[in-house]
Amino acid sequence: MSKNKTTPSYFEKVIQLLKSEKLYPDIGVVSGPSSQPEIIINGQKLVTFCSNNYLGLANNEEVKKAVISGLNKYGFGSASTRLLSGTLDIQVDFETALASFYGFGDSITFSSGYLANIGVIRMLVDPFPYFPTPFDNGNGVIFSDELNHASMVEAARLSKAERVIYKHNDMDDLEKGLIRHKNGRKLIITDGIFSMDGDFANLVSISRLAKDYNALIFVDDSHGTGVLGPNGEGTAHQLGVADNIDVIMGSFTKAWGGLGGFTVIKNKTIADYLRVTARSYIFSDPILPSTVAGLIKTLEIIKHGSGLRQKTLSNAKYLRSELKKMGYEVLGADNIPIIPPLLGSEKNAIEFSRRLKEVGIFAPAVRRPAVTEGRERLRLTTMSTHTRFQIDFLLEQMYKIGKELRII
Ligand SMILES: Cc1ncc(COP(=O)(O)O)c(C=O)c1O
Repeated sequence: MSKNKTTPSYFEKVIQLLKSEKLYPDIGVVSGPSSQPEIIINGQKLVTFCSNNYLGLANNEEVKKAVISGLNKYGFGSASTRLLSGTLDIQVDFETALASFYGFGDSITFSSGYLANIGVIRMLVDPFPYFPTPFDNGNGVIFSDELNHASMVEAARLSKAERVIYKHNDMDDLEKGLIRHKNGRKLIITDGIFSMDGDFANLVSISRLAKDYNALIFVDDSHGTGVLGPNGEGTAHQLGVADNIDVIMGSFTKAWGGLGGFTVIKNKTIADYLRVTARSYIFSDPILPSTVAGLIKTLEIIKHGSGLRQKTLSNAKYLRSELKKMGYEVLGADNIPIIPPLLGSEKNAIEFSRRLKEVGIFAPAVRRPAVTEGRERLRLTTMSTHTRFQIDFLLEQMYKIGKELRII
């Protein structure tokens, strides 16, 4: 009995191992809002280049007012799941507005993007979960890009479907998989924009393959929603293929500056099906009504937010092109506010981030397990609220430290 008390437990041993390998993260605790370009960590003022608050809406005054009035009208929580008494008029109104914004048949919101993926993905391909139906034809197949977000990976693992992981954005590899699995229900899942590499999914080719091989398409556009597309609808609209996508999912934690997740679903019948089968919808309470009130205001701002989008993207373009001129290998596409310069090793990435922090810039190192060995990087992001002065200061430091560490 006393053995467990005196010898290090499994957990202690693993934590010690992580710490000795310098893999245990040093989590910066921010005092006050973390969404502004200037933040305070342990009393130090830093300019952050790692926030997903792309449009600067997380601290918007109009949104805050809407949240407060939602709180006054609806109280704190909905105190029930959606299928009991937790479906409030404000949630239905918001979902209707979202579906119409995207030009899709219906929309379902979740208390997080992670839960949206966990709930929806398996139900697009698994047999009806409650009892066998005459229409079942075995388990399906999920085709998943190797760089998909952890929540999609987890969601696919929960499914009864066979999983086929295709090489990142490699359409030949995807097609090979589709050819090998001619029968049964098929689902292709992909990020719209890949959050660590800052590149687009090849949605044009995916649309063609899905049509040829009769597969559904699910796009997690957490990093594209609000930022891309003619009115901020996201990646599929920007690439002109929204009509071919069956479900677009997004998180409200990035450009929307709030909390929660959504799906917009092309076919209303599929939405009706998901409402009675997606377990994270049925068994988990919805987004707080006050947050929904804030998100309704955010949607209005996004619809008319071309100025904000332009500012975010021109900041990104400038930062990316200046880093490239310095000699950095920068991943990703031009018009995406995720700018990842590769730093060559874990040691470089940690040292780089430490030195940036010393001079007042916050940009944590991205390393194992988020990326593979040798692909360590900074994941720099731009917001509409960054000034040119702040970006130039970052560039100056990137040049200095990059030279000192012999990365450029
Ligand atoms: C691509 C992607 N999908 C899903 C999620 C999960 O969203 P949420 O934070 O709303 O749970 C994230 C957030 O990190 C993400 O980056």
